[in-house]
Amino acid sequence: MFDIKDISENEAKIQLEFLAKEIEKADIAYYQNDEPYLDDASYDKLRRLNDALEAKFPHLIRSDSPSKRIGALVKSEFKKVELKVPMLSLADIFSDEELKDFVMSIKRFLNTSDNIAFTSEPKMDGLSFSASYVNGIFVQGSTRGDGKIGEDITENLKVIKEFPLFLDKDVPEHFEVRGEVFMSKADFLKLNEMNEKEHKKTFANPRNAAAGSLRQLDARITQKRNLSFLVYTWGEVSDIRWKTQSEFLDYVKSLGFPVNPYNKLCLNDHELLDSFNSLMENRASLPYDIDGIVYKVNDLDLQKRLGFLTRTPRWAIAHKFPAEQAITKLNNIRVQVGRTGALTPVADLEPINVGGVLVSHATLHNEDEIKRKDIRIGDMVVIQRAGDVIPQIVSVLKEKRSSYLPEFQFPVFCPECGAHAIREEDEAVRRCTGGLSCPAQAVERLKHFVSREAFNIEGLGDKVIEDFYKEEIIKTPYDIFTLKERNKPTDLFSNGISLNLENREGWGVKSVKKLFDAIEKSKIISLQKFIYALGIRQVGAATAYLIAKHYHSFSNFMTAMINQDLQLLVSIDGIGPAMAKDIVEFFKEEHNIFIIQKLLSVVHIDDFESLENTDSEIFGKTIVFTGTLTSLTRSEAKSKALSFGAKVAGSVSAHTDYVVAGENAGSKLSKAQELGVKIISESDFIKIIS
Ligand code: IVH
Repeated sequence: MFDIKDISENEAKIQLEFLAKEIEKADIAYYQNDEPYLDDASYDKLRRLNDALEAKFPHLIRSDSPSKRIGALVKSEFKKVELKVPMLSLADIFSDEELKDFVMSIKRFLNTSDNIAFTSEPKMDGLSFSASYVNGIFVQGSTRGDGKIGEDITENLKVIKEFPLFLDKDVPEHFEVRGEVFMSKADFLKLNEMNEKEHKKTFANPRNAAAGSLRQLDARITQKRNLSFLVYTWGEVSDIRWKTQSEFLDYVKSLGFPVNPYNKLCLNDHELLDSFNSLMENRASLPYDIDGIVYKVNDLDLQKRLGFLTRTPRWAIAHKFPAEQAITKLNNIRVQVGRTGALTPVADLEPINVGGVLVSHATLHNEDEIKRKDIRIGDMVVIQRAGDVIPQIVSVLKEKRSSYLPEFQFPVFCPECGAHAIREEDEAVRRCTGGLSCPAQAVERLKHFVSREAFNIEGLGDKVIEDFYKEEIIKTPYDIFTLKERNKPTDLFSNGISLNLENREGWGVKSVKKLFDAIEKSKIISLQKFIYALGIRQVGAATAYLIAKHYHSFSNFMTAMINQDLQLLVSIDGIGPAMAKDIVEFFKEEHNIFIIQKLLSVVHIDDFESLENTDSEIFGKTIVFTGTLTSLTRSEAKSKALSFGAKVAGSVSAHTDYVVAGENAGSKLSKAQELGVKIISESDFIKIIS
């Protein structure tokens, strides 16, 4: 599938490093943040390329290779659960050919030409769970987490309708069932409708809604959502009383667990394919989302002989449905302006049903994409919806272009504020140069600021932000925190509108109080969330986390950025020069510093996790490094000092507490001697931090 024949060892090494990072990023987005940005096929491509390269160059397998990880990291707030029998994932296939290869390879492995029986089970698009029963009593629930350590969702499972807390038949002493928690399409639509009304965040799809509802620290929220579940496998069981997968499914059904009614036993290749095709046809009419079929060797003895690869069983595979396509008319190309000023074209389509979902918009990526595909308003276009991703335009039916349609002219002025929209060399996007005077950018930045990964202020949904901005109630993030004191019926704004939120349509005393409570609560914020909230170009949640981890406190970070001390920043794995440039540029803008300073007067930013050692003698002290360090790099030394609660300064002054003098230290050392600052050697410093 991938042509890696001619790849050199060096290139492979670089590729593997890139893949490890990309796959981890995608995993975090999918598993931890419930906000996937890659469709299954693209994700799978990365995984396969990684596998292929590792197979060719086994000595280059990295310690952080994605093939060694099963899923994502564990969300820290939940109690951890050890999964004695790991929760594995499945390899994906996308074609009939690959299905044949899969069956063949199993036969070859087992050295048989006999037909092998498989179960074929709809692949539920939800969130996998594990539930343990001891002597028939439900004792613990867990998510998959990283496959070995999951999150404790015992209370959340208990509140799902029909989830059995007791099993009244004679069951094995230790009995752990596993399956999928999901939300039906109807419940998903209802939930989004309600959230929209209440100006709350809506979910992109049922899977995200299920994940967001199940992984709630407060199980009462889970209870309010309509979640469903199915069982399809097991974990730790003290006495396995079934010989085949289908017997297991019958057994759990007899215990009262829901199992998928479309599960089938297939006795040969044809039956496998038939089950795939018939489910694909029926897919849209199912009340829940499925994204493929799982085939499992039915006989447990054969499963045992087949065993496992690193992260997937050899006896099971997931056959994914192809992306669904449809043809419709492109009614308009709208150009939207995002938080960072990027002009993004969006296709307005004649609404059409694609695999059970009504699609009326598609992404067009950027102006080059429109040119490359020669997409014109009025064209008939082929659109595609693959899994979670936003629909895309695959191609244009040029033969259907009836009359002459003019080429699309991408705007060179911002459609929102009229400022020049320019495109820098090497950049695919055109950006509005209006900065915060562009209302679109200001509004998008505000939305970002209050979003879940940032200040997480419930009650300030997109529509509220848009209205408040228009009415000049909130123009900058700081205004959010003065809202309460400004909310007096007598207060009049410049435009004559009185800020009496309780009297707004759809609002009342209760919802206003709720909003103020949420704002109050948000004032204590973690460092990574605060950095993310600033909306610095390219700094997503993962990068914000890296920055927080390395600088520990906001003042460390901000001081370094203002002084343009990039040494530590660029040494962070995952932050490249382009990103560093954007970060520094952000701190060069006076307007940003002004807003940050105002924010710092009202919010409390928690330093990154707990510091390693608050009793350390350098805690709270100011340290200057000078000369060449031999055992540590300068960045490591700085990062260590910061993690022990010290401040790191660039020059020696009366405020300096320690100077760490390496080899060939020069003027800073003499200055320290002059001022009587305590001078320590590199090895003294290492003793302090070890
Ligand atoms: S069996 C060792 N059966 O797909 C096999 N998984 O990529 C363990 N899934 O994490 C999984 N429907 O969330 C199995 N009928 C089914 C499934 C199913 C959905 C999900 C599950 C798992 C992922 C594997």
